[in-house]
Amino acid sequence: MLLGRTVERQEIERVLASARSGTSATLAFIGEPGIGKTSLLDYAAQRAEGMQLLRARGIESEAQIPFGSLLELLRPALTMLDRIPKPQAVALEGALALRPAQAQERFAVGAATLSLLASYAEQAPLAVVVDDAHWLDDSSAQALLFAIRRLLADPIAVVVSVRDDEPWMLDGADLATVRLGGLTSDDAKTLLGNLSGELTGRLYKATGGNPLALLELASDAEHLDLGPVGPPVLVPAKISRAFLRRAGMLEEQVQRALVLVAASDTGDLRTLERAASKLAIDVAALSSGESAGLVRLRAGEVEFTHPLARSAIYAQAPLEQRRAAHRALASALPDRDVDRRA
Ligand SMILES: Nc1ncnc2c1ncn2[C@@H]1O[C@H](COP(=O)(O)OP(=O)(O)OP(=O)(O)O)[C@@H](O)[C@H]1O
Ligand SMILES: [Mg+2]
Repeated sequence: MLLGRTVERQEIERVLASARSGTSATLAFIGEPGIGKTSLLDYAAQRAEGMQLLRARGIESEAQIPFGSLLELLRPALTMLDRIPKPQAVALEGALALRPAQAQERFAVGAATLSLLASYAEQAPLAVVVDDAHWLDDSSAQALLFAIRRLLADPIAVVVSVRDDEPWMLDGADLATVRLGGLTSDDAKTLLGNLSGELTGRLYKATGGNPLALLELASDAEHLDLGPVGPPVLVPAKISRAFLRRAGMLEEQVQRALVLVAASDTGDLRTLERAASKLAIDVAALSSGESAGLVRLRAGEVEFTHPLARSAIYAQAPLEQRRAAHRALASALPDRDVDRRA
């Protein structure tokens, strides 16, 4: 359940209402890791009932794959390709690798994105939700930016999130922005439920109300050495340490499997199995990682419970182990997957 966030909810309602009444509106949430950006975007997606929804998120390890995020975002709208000007459709299909690419024309892809969003929104008002925009690949970010800046009398609401410490890809986009702070101490108490008031108070001071930090540190409360009250900028480091401590308690085999997953960009278990066999790792080991709350396994895929768990595990692995993981992953991919192999 989403606690607090009165202002943010109002902003979400505002942009959705605007789109419903036929005028485009944009909104960006900016904040540190774990502060609650994704939660707010989920809320926006929920509140967009009766509207069409296009969603995508930037993924750190995929930031080099041209147009990857744009394809994810636009896929449901591709049925409208025959409604937009032919040269734009051709450029967009080429960019998204739906047909052999031609010499790429950035302007045409941006224009095509705009036309496609507008055509799609003619059916019903549209919500476009983009999480972790700082990790969009450059090509996708530029095309989206081009489109977003030019939305006018379209029934389209755009809601994005970006981390505050990342180069901001949406610079110059002129979006309405809301900076997210921590939860109030009352909401923090509710979030932590049965923890003692004294401990909750200390956790609150140490985390500045960052909900992820509150949850992670509370789950490890007996090891807690909060030390002198630190500024909220230390929060990501504290969360990372909590994840690493959990990972450190797992067997070496499991830890190596986790590094492999952290290096992979899809979480596709079949690819991971092939890569793991080259490193003499058994991916079945990942189920211990799941019990430790670091990854989730489902229908042929594995994903980290939180991006910070992934970056922490990746960052602390020895360089040689990371290299080996990337080599194994590249060789586990089909030849035609040129970009990702590279
Ligand atoms: N307002 C809230 N009420 C209750 N729980 C919340 C709230 N905001 C965030 N949380 C919880 O805190 C955790 C982190 O939130 P979330 O994933 O939304 O953060 P984030 O800003 O997207 O982080 P990142 O930058 O790492 O992607 C989640 O477990 C989420 O459920
Ligand atoms: Mg998030």
